[in-house]
Amino acid sequence: MVELVPSILSADFSKLALEVEAAERGGGSVIHIDIMDGHFVPNLTMGPPVVKSLRKVTSLPLDCHLMIENPDDFIAEFADAGANWISVHYEACRHLHRTLELISQHGMEPAVVINPATLAGLLVDILPMVHHVLVMSVNPGFGGQKFIGFSLDKIRRLAELRAELDLNFRIEVDGGVAHDTIASVVEAGADLLVAGSAVFASGHPEKEARVLLSLAREAERRRPGQKLHSARAAAI
Ligand code: DX5
Ligand code: ZN
Repeated sequence: MVELVPSILSADFSKLALEVEAAERGGGSVIHIDIMDGHFVPNLTMGPPVVKSLRKVTSLPLDCHLMIENPDDFIAEFADAGANWISVHYEACRHLHRTLELISQHGMEPAVVINPATLAGLLVDILPMVHHVLVMSVNPGFGGQKFIGFSLDKIRRLAELRAELDLNFRIEVDGGVAHDTIASVVEAGADLLVAGSAVFASGHPEKEARVLLSLAREAERRRPGQKLHSARAAAI
């Protein structure tokens, strides 16, 4: 089943707990937290203290997207803060296999992220290790950017690889996911739909989340191949 993953990057930080609660009431079932270091991406955001605070106000999985260099140095801190899922960029990890193992050893779900210019096929050998693959459909660093169309092929390729290799990792998409693009990413095979500005920018996160999720569910009903895979995945 597809899930809506609100990204708090576009939330009003002066009332973050209320924003998260509203997105949850609207059907958001995972909370996406963008961690940026001003080096890997040209922007600075938040770190483990924000994760720790959010842990107190929601029981939903906290999905931490690390847009940072040397992610290994921070894995223990994120685990202590209460993070559930950690995704690291293929482009930022010199020893990706080791980093994914480190995340698992700390009791969190490991995931790998690829930028728009990175080929999905490069991930073949590590796919059995990951909880999900995050496909960036914008260049990481900022909310509110335009969806890059060829990301759809990358999602399709990953869905094919998952079937060919008989794996169960989930496919997440992040960047420019909004009313006009959400159906196409679901039809391409994405399961976890990150949306930042589309949920929070209007100031009505509950309502926006509900609309996005219903568009996503409608699109999901049009992809029989994917349903078959999910049913098989649930049975094993
Ligand atoms: C961008 C972040 C995204 C961001 C998406 O680097 O990784 O999670 O919040 O924002 P929208 O949904 O507005 O494109
Ligand atoms: Zn993100």
